Parts: sequence; structure tokens; C-alpha cells
Amino acid sequence: PEPQKVVATKLEKEGEVDDGKKKVSIFFGTQTGNAESFAKAFVEEAKVRYEKATFKVIDLDAYADDDDEYEEKLKKESLAFFFVATYGSGEPTDNAVRFYEWFTEGDKKGELVKKLQYGVFGVGDRRYGHFNKVGIVVDGKLEEMGAKRLVPLGLGDDEQSIEDDFAAWKELVWPELDQLLHDKDDMSVATPYTAAVLEYRVVYHDKPDPSTEDQTHTNGHSVHDAQHPSRSNVAFKKELHTPQSDRSCTHLEFDISNTGLSYETGDQVGVYCENLSEVVDEAVRLVGLPPDTYFSIHANKEDGTPINGSTLPPPFPPCTLRNALARYADVLSSPRKTALLALAAHASDPSEADRLKFLASPAGKDEYAQWIVASQRSLLEVMEAFPSAKPPLGVFFAAVARRIQPRYYSISSCPKVTPNRIHIACSLVYDKMPAGRIHKGLSSTWIKNATPLTESKDCSWAPIFVRTSNFRLPADPKVPIIMIGPGTGLAPFRGFLQERQTLKEAGTELGPSIFFFGCRNRNVDFIYEDELNNFLETGVLSELVVAFSREGAAKEYVQHKMGQKASEIWNLLSEGAYLYVCGDPKCMAKDVHRALNTIVQEQGSLDSSKAELYLKNLQLSGRYLRVSRR
Ligand code: 2AM
Repeated sequence: PEPQKVVATKLEKEGEVDDGKKKVSIFFGTQTGNAESFAKAFVEEAKVRYEKATFKVIDLDAYADDDDEYEEKLKKESLAFFFVATYGSGEPTDNAVRFYEWFTEGDKKGELVKKLQYGVFGVGDRRYGHFNKVGIVVDGKLEEMGAKRLVPLGLGDDEQSIEDDFAAWKELVWPELDQLLHDKDDMSVATPYTAAVLEYRVVYHDKPDPSTEDQTHTNGHSVHDAQHPSRSNVAFKKELHTPQSDRSCTHLEFDISNTGLSYETGDQVGVYCENLSEVVDEAVRLVGLPPDTYFSIHANKEDGTPINGSTLPPPFPPCTLRNALARYADVLSSPRKTALLALAAHASDPSEADRLKFLASPAGKDEYAQWIVASQRSLLEVMEAFPSAKPPLGVFFAAVARRIQPRYYSISSCPKVTPNRIHIACSLVYDKMPAGRIHKGLSSTWIKNATPLTESKDCSWAPIFVRTSNFRLPADPKVPIIMIGPGTGLAPFRGFLQERQTLKEAGTELGPSIFFFGCRNRNVDFIYEDELNNFLETGVLSELVVAFSREGAAKEYVQHKMGQKASEIWNLLSEGAYLYVCGDPKCMAKDVHRALNTIVQEQGSLDSSKAELYLKNLQLSGRYLRVSRR
């Protein structure tokens, strides 16, 4: 007699319970896998604590195909956690862009999340601007729309110890979930939890199977992304600094013919580089197994069931230990606390195990911050200090060494000019670390040492993929452009200028363009000087303004030169110019922004906050674009 009620109960059940278990959704927005691994670690622990609930880890991109589906599905969520990273200058990660844009645009109706209880853990880095912006926005928007926040927003800071931030945030979550997910009568038996050391199943093979070795990055995929890069040869390489330089900057060209890759002017390229052979030698020695050990790793048991839920990153293809260490193991970064615990679990000397456990414990927080983080001690250095810790390969690759992540570079070429080549410019990273080690940047050193096809048929190659960006020339070539890019910040503008050259050659009328470039000394690091002069002569570039920081008595930077050209910049902006800034987001882009604010104040007779609003509007209308990857 009460059909209405029956239907309602059924719907309610669909949304909230599954086989009598309460459903919890854990969303992640990840770029390098960090936010994803926090999401998965959270679920691992939650599963042990709350056996009566089901937890689902969800990639924000894979969640829904379009806005309507986001809406439809989100409405059904009742308990959700968001692990979202902020990257670049406050942007969401690639896999969160669609969700973020949909979720933050316009007025969302309250019904969308009315019955939702939620928590957000942001993954950010205080060294960059817009610290944890995406987490802050998602958390705020959810509350604004009437969802119930269970715990304060977690502000993970990758500069300090993000694992501590995570641990502290989790401690706030559990009491809330105890209320929601424990039966009244088993409140008292909340299971104490210690994270299990992650481990792949390892299979050793007698001899390398040539048909599988080196197929790491086969070029058969239709879409290439960070998970499916395409193997590309290094076609050409040249040093951009003059011999007088005590630094180095490499111009490198990848051959992308027959790779399935294509790009647009202004895009970025992600490159997976290998460790230097001296680094691999050291890693082989510390792992303590023969370098030609041929093995494969598996995230499931022999019967196919997944190991550790779904928390392990996808295995890499079978290869020798030497290749695995070269291609996949980031051994130069500092180890995380979970890595120290994994080492401790396999240290034969009890005093070493104790010390490792202490460093990973809350009591050892300060020492970890000092001995590992502040001194930027690499995983290799830590393993060197604990020689009895010899984890098996399954543990080493799952829990000790993180995967090598791709490095992103702005593409410095234009596909209309070189459709089969991707050009980049890369400065060598070579620093003395506080603990005394010389740190040679993994990617930049590989790039500097790469063997191009012009030198050997047996040239270097790397798995690469293209990432689209919003760094685009205005659709109308007559619109003026202002480009600011000191050092290798020049890269995308070389692509822009090449594109304008093809337009000009085709008879298109071009609007004015001005480029502010900065380097130390015209005889040392004025990269692509000839090309820039050529663009000037042909009218592809209207004006080139160069700041030399180490020629005169006083430092001169791009922003100083901009100040001298204030009225010109203001006039161009008034004519609708696009403004582009490429390079170091910490200092240069901030200083340039400040200089712009001053210019707008003076030229537009505005006070500082009005000038800021003017720049904000430029940004919102897509006419002020910044990119940090050089
Ligand atoms: P410097 O190395 O002499 O300090 C490319 O790296 C150029 O950018 C160099 O000339 C460098 O100068 C300069 N540079 C360094 N910091 C900067 C900043 N905050 N703003 C603008 N340019 C900067």
C-alpha cells in the first residue's frame, strides 16, 4: 500500500549502501602520482579499520564523461574524500581539469551535494604560489553548497614533510568515521593499524627474453600520455652557451616521425630520463644483487588477486636490475618515511632498524626534517648509511624507491616548421648539496649527455609524450603580444615566433610583438641570439628588449626593462595585447607580476588594488598567461 516509500528506500540504498555496506568514495586528482598514492594509502588503512564499509578509489577524470554525468553521479554520493593536488600556478592536475572546471563554474544547485559528508586533503608545495589552491577551492565550494565538512581541509606541503601532514589529517578523520562507519557495539574494538610494507610479487627469469626486454615504451598506443609515452630518438643536440660559460644549456631535438606523437605551438613535452650510469652503478651496489638479474614485478598474486588492494603502481615490464634501476628508480630524491620503514623491516642489524624506525616515527620528526629533508639526503646516501638494510626487489621497487617521474619542458619549436621534431632547451642542474654530495639533475644531465643521431646510429632515446597547454598565440594574428621569458623561459616564444614567421610568409598581416629576454652576459648565455635577430630583421618580432644581469655594476632584470617601457606596454594592453610569462614561478614570475602592477597603477592612474583587479581580469579573460615549465 505504500509504493512511494518502497521506491524511496530503494534509491537511498543505491546511493549509500552496497551489500549492506556503507559506500565511501575516494577521489583523486594527481599529476605525478602523489595525491593518488595518498588516496590509496588512506583506503588501505580505512579498509582495515572499517570492515563494514566499502571504499572505492576514483580517478576524477574517469568518474564521468561529461558535466551531466558528473552531476548525476555526484548527487548520489553520501560520503566522499578528495585528494587533490595543485600544480603549476594554482592549476588542477590534468586528470582533475574537467571536474574542477565543471564544479567551480557558475552557480551549482545545493541539491547536488546536500546529503554529502566530505573531507579534502590537498597536495601542494609552499615554495610555489597558490599553495594548495585546488584543495582550498574544492573544500570551500563543497561547504558553500551545503555539504557537511567532516574534517578541516588537510594542507599537504611537499616542501616540508607531507607525510606528517597526511598523518595529522588522518588522525582527525578516524574519530569522525568511527561515528559513521562503526556499529555502535564495536566502537570499542577499533583495530590498531600499522601500515604494511608494500611489496610486489617478483618472478626471476633465467635469461633475458629479447622479445620483451626494451619494449618498455612501445609505440602502438593511439593516445600518448604519462602512462603511455612514446619512444623517441634524439635526433640532434647542441650546446647553447658559449665556451666562456661555467654553466650549460642544451638545445635538443626529438624525432617524432612514426611515433604517433603530434603537438601544437606552446605545448609541453614530458620526458622520462634515465639515471646516469655512475648513479646506477652505485644503486646496484647498494641493492646488492647482480646487475643482470632478470626479473618481472607483479601487483597480483599467482591466482590473479591483487596484492595490497590496488595501491601498487602498475608494474614496469620485465627487465634486468640494471635497466630497472636506470629507468624506474628515483634514487636521488630523499626517501619518504614509508621508505625508511621498509628499509627498517629488512635491516639485519637491529640498531640500524631501530634508528630507521625512529627517523620515521613522530618522535624522530625533527631529526628526519634535519638529517633527510634539510640536508637533501638522497635515497642512495641513506642506504649507504644503513648498509645492513637490503630489501628484496619487490619491496625496493614498491616501497623504497619512488618511480622516476617525467620532467616537463616547454616545446621550443612550431609543428608547421618542424612537424617531425620536438625541440627543447634545458639548463643543466648541478648543485652542491648541504650534505656535501654534488647533485646532478637527473633529466638535465641525461639531456646534456645524450647521443644524437647525428653522432651515432645507436643514438639515445627517451619515452616522451605531449601535454597540451593554454599557452597559445591569439587566434587573430593582428592582436599584439608581449612575451617575457628570461633564460630558458625563451623556449615557448621561439615556437611562437616560428609560427608567426610561417604566417608572415603566407602573407598574413601580423600585429606588434615585443619580447623581454634576460640573461647574464651577451657573450655567454644569450641563447638563440642569431635566430632572434633574424626574427627582428624579418619583422616577425617588432622589438627585442634584453636585460643583462651580470654585465654592468648593477643587476638588470626583465622587470626593470619592463618598467622602462611602461607606456608602451600599457598602450599595447589597451589595444588588447596578450601577455605571456614563462619561467621560474618562485621569483621571476612574481617579480614580473609586481612590475606589471606598478605599470598599470602609474599608466592607468589606478591604486594598487584596482591595478591588481585589472591584472586579474586580464588573467580571467585568458590574456595574461603564465607557464613555469621552461
Ligand atoms: P642572475 O643569474 O644574474 O641573477 C636567466 O636566468 C636570467 O634571469 C639571468 O640573467 C638571471 O640573473 C635572471 N634572474 C634571476 N632572478 C630573477 C628574477 N627574480 N627576476 C628576473 N630575472 C631574474
